[in-house]
Amino acid sequence: MGITVNVSLLTEYERTQLGTRQPLPERYLGLPPEELDARIHAARATLGSRVVLLGHHYQRDEVITFADHTGDSWKLARQIGEHPGAEFIVFCGVHFMAESADILAAPHQQVILPDLAAGCSMADMAAPDQLAVCWQELAAHGLDAGLVPVTYINSSASIKAFCGERGGIVCTSSNARGTLEWAWARGERVLFLPDQHLGRNTAFQMGIPLDRMAVWDPDEPLGGLTPDEIARARILLWKGHCSVHTRFTVRQIEQVRAQHPGIRVIVHPECPWEVVQAADASGSTETIRKTVRESEPGSVWAVGTEIHLVNRLAREVAPDRTVMTLDPFGCLCSTMFRVSPNHLLWVLEGLVDDQVHNRITVAEHEKMWARVALDRMLQVS
Ligand code: 13P
Ligand code: SF4
Repeated sequence: MGITVNVSLLTEYERTQLGTRQPLPERYLGLPPEELDARIHAARATLGSRVVLLGHHYQRDEVITFADHTGDSWKLARQIGEHPGAEFIVFCGVHFMAESADILAAPHQQVILPDLAAGCSMADMAAPDQLAVCWQELAAHGLDAGLVPVTYINSSASIKAFCGERGGIVCTSSNARGTLEWAWARGERVLFLPDQHLGRNTAFQMGIPLDRMAVWDPDEPLGGLTPDEIARARILLWKGHCSVHTRFTVRQIEQVRAQHPGIRVIVHPECPWEVVQAADASGSTETIRKTVRESEPGSVWAVGTEIHLVNRLAREVAPDRTVMTLDPFGCLCSTMFRVSPNHLLWVLEGLVDDQVHNRITVAEHEKMWARVALDRMLQVS
């Protein structure tokens, strides 16, 4: 007897496993770097403008070197509409980025994620059924009136669709402030998911005190809160986090300052509130890069984000500026790391042979409302 699985209840990762994930063919394993490079270049040359390759800043050097455009989630989402002539968008990033690309792409375009196992553990912390239960519980207490859902782009397409359908919006780390302004112009309370830290850091910078924020725990009845606590909150923060950015600590900042007097610290807003408060600056991956690159010569920076970005930035700005990681052990995003040059070669040579591997498609019923939420995001700079 066959087993029926309600795909909407699965995590982003489980869905990729159930889908069309094929293991990398053996002939693509163990290739020397020079051969990988030469064959990727050859496949790209054959495909020409039929393909556009986007790379997030956390990608490995040997992958991002082939990107036509690099950026943070915001910048890459904006690139989708800029290449109407490309049949294929190869997204070197993680699953939610490729899903967003498929939602924003034109109907004739196909989006490819080189390794379908490249998910995001934070995105998996908000499941569609948990959000539905949250909304129902709030409604049962009359607390859904004036409630605007804001989802970080690091979330599944179905979460984005849920928000779009209920008058909500998607945000990135670049425009979180603008999207919260947008939301508070439309309702008195925001439900922010799945990253409590980005929500808290942004709302605090906008003047919302911590005691007007409440953490919604999806594993507890009514989020583990009393109706009074919810009624008092200006923002409900979903209890989700990034396992890479929550490794950074205030102690690390103190240590790096003691070891390098005059050093400045810049971190990603997915870091805990105490860390962002202790740092000199915070911002999206693109903002971090821009701030360091444009700092005065002689500047020394400790950077609190994924290690591939930090190491690349350190090389790019040397010797005029010095960059080091805030975490001496280096924080790796293991899912971003899934995209290897071998996977990239496989999908590109597949396209040369008219075979599309690892296509990401969002179901039509989710696409419409998710697009509404993403289009609202693109309007907010
Ligand atoms: P950015 O949009 O700042 O690149 O962040 C994406 C991300 O996943 C950070 O962990
Ligand atoms: Fe997700 Fe964190 Fe990796 Fe960003 S760094 S993709 S939030 S797990």
